[in-house]
Amino acid sequence: MIIAVASGKGGVGKTWFAIALAHAAARTGRRVLLFDADLGLANVDIQLGLMPDYDLGSVIAGRVSLTDAVLHHPDGGFDIIAGRSGSGALSSIEPAALESTLATLRREAARYDLVLLDLGAGLDRAVRRMSAWADTLLVLATEEPTSLTDAYAVLKLYAGDKPQGDARVVVNQATTRQAGERTFATLQRACQTFLGKAPVCAGVIRRDDGVRDAIRRQTLLLIRHPNASAAADVAAIADGLFTA
Ligand SMILES: Nc1ncnc2c1ncn2[C@@H]1O[C@H](COP(=O)(O)OP(=O)(O)OP(=O)(O)O)[C@@H](O)[C@H]1O
Ligand SMILES: [Mg+2]
Repeated sequence: MIIAVASGKGGVGKTWFAIALAHAAARTGRRVLLFDADLGLANVDIQLGLMPDYDLGSVIAGRVSLTDAVLHHPDGGFDIIAGRSGSGALSSIEPAALESTLATLRREAARYDLVLLDLGAGLDRAVRRMSAWADTLLVLATEEPTSLTDAYAVLKLYAGDKPQGDARVVVNQATTRQAGERTFATLQRACQTFLGKAPVCAGVIRRDDGVRDAIRRQTLLLIRHPNASAAADVAAIADGLFTA
């Protein structure tokens, strides 16, 4: 299963969520690869405090193979391909280079139960291509109106790019579970009215001080704060993805 995580608006928690979901899935015995697909401002390695020898930049420059760029996260039990490039941003990647990277990633994906793509903010060509390329698109939104309108824009483009696609919404940083469900309902109504079809809800993640603390310490939430509400919420989302 290949899942891309998008949001439109930046800073809503995509990278943190992708890491937490990778960890939750790995803890239930799944083989997981987390691919840092934020070609502009990659930071999976930063959130995890890792110093990768190779990254996507090395792969695209032809210095190493994608397989050789895979890094194992021992505490998390999942694999990572870091995105940070020593030679500058990859945001201007040529379409042909992106396609050949995705073709290699698809072959690599055969060794995993779950491949997660942490996409960048915005709606550029590469973000749209990787969203449509994945089997499932998880769109993160928060209660903020700007986040909701941006999530709607992602869903609208996705509906055009991949009419039979599988888009699901995750509401993050919800003040309460009920408030998160109301946020989802608002987005669902807009999609139903204007796009003629509505995404399903993959889950609600509550706002939790442990998230910021875990990021600041470059550790995993489920290790540092195993009883955090956000940790339980992510675990529930992981269960839903594998049982659906
Ligand atoms: N459930 C949550 N509870 C509390 N804070 C959260 C939660 N989720 C995310 N955050 C906060 O949001 C911040 C931004 O998270 P993150 O860097 O993962 O966002 P992003 O969407 O990947 O950003 P970008 O668009 O820049 O890539 C984190 O540093 C964290 O403090
Ligand atoms: Mg990010």
